[in-house]
Amino acid sequence: MKNLTFTNEDEMPILGLGTWKSAPHEVYTAVKEAIRIGYRHIDCAAVYGNEEGVGKAIDEAIASGIVSREELWITSKLWNNAHGEENVMPALEKTLSDLGLDYLDLYLVHWPIANQPDKPSARSAADFRSLKEVPLTDTWKGMEKAKEQGLARHIGVSNFNAKQLTELIEGGTVMPEMNQVELHPYLQQAQLVRFCENRGIHLTAYSPLGSPDRPAGLKAEDEPILLEDAAIMAIAEKKKASPAQILISWSIHREIAVIPKSVNPKRLKENFAAANLKLTEEEMEQIEALNRDRRYVDGKFWEVEGGPYTTAELWGEL
Ligand code: A2P
Repeated sequence: MKNLTFTNEDEMPILGLGTWKSAPHEVYTAVKEAIRIGYRHIDCAAVYGNEEGVGKAIDEAIASGIVSREELWITSKLWNNAHGEENVMPALEKTLSDLGLDYLDLYLVHWPIANQPDKPSARSAADFRSLKEVPLTDTWKGMEKAKEQGLARHIGVSNFNAKQLTELIEGGTVMPEMNQVELHPYLQQAQLVRFCENRGIHLTAYSPLGSPDRPAGLKAEDEPILLEDAAIMAIAEKKKASPAQILISWSIHREIAVIPKSVNPKRLKENFAAANLKLTEEEMEQIEALNRDRRYVDGKFWEVEGGPYTTAELWGEL
């Protein structure tokens, strides 16, 4: 398995297991099975509401001797209602307690969006706090403290645009080490990828399969189905692989970490095997031609009447 190497030589397996949308009762079995198959990188978040299940699976895998803590790479994310320097440590401690761990390998600011502390889900303008009230650099100070204290070995962000990354780079002491964003052939984000690569910020691709199981409210009518793309299917057929394997392998070839979600043993195995699939330059070029700047997770849920956030600003389109 290929790794991404951090500046202190720590290595993160390039292929991990996604856990967004995995129900609490499913995630336990999925993580146990994944570790048995060979996955060593699990991507979690407080807001997924299933970290206790992940933790139980990790604990049992370690207890039974399949894997050691040091061999695992565990990522989690700070939710929007815990922005602000003083709120980071309590949120991280809760995540560590749910996961049954004494450190995370990577802790990310989940979104450049701040909620009121008592509003984990924000629905109206009053539930949000603007980034003028809680600057990203304040939250970042809390993240730096988490790293300093060894509770998170690495720190980074998710869903940040180049401007927001620059704010942290210029205003912070520790460089963000990761930006986890939606990336797949329909949303290749060439500019953001180049920006991160030029600054030594690693990338992780979320929703690499087009997130077909996301809630209906997040779906558009007649949206293109990535797993059924004709070019992807043709390459898959030629290589006797599945479309999902082609999508996963494409990200690995771009040196971008990838975290397909599955709770199905057969698909967990299939996705893991994609780490060994080789794509030719020609195939990579064919896939590159599929970009259509299509977001499946479009962030519209942060846009409320009179609220402080717009998707144009969020995605740096202004
Ligand atoms: P399941 O969990 O039942 O396997 P994403 O990672 O882009 O969010 O996509 C996750 C979705 O893709 C889930 O619905 C998951 O279903 C499905 N999925 C995962 N692996 C595969 C695969 N190899 N082939 C088809 N669908 C898959």
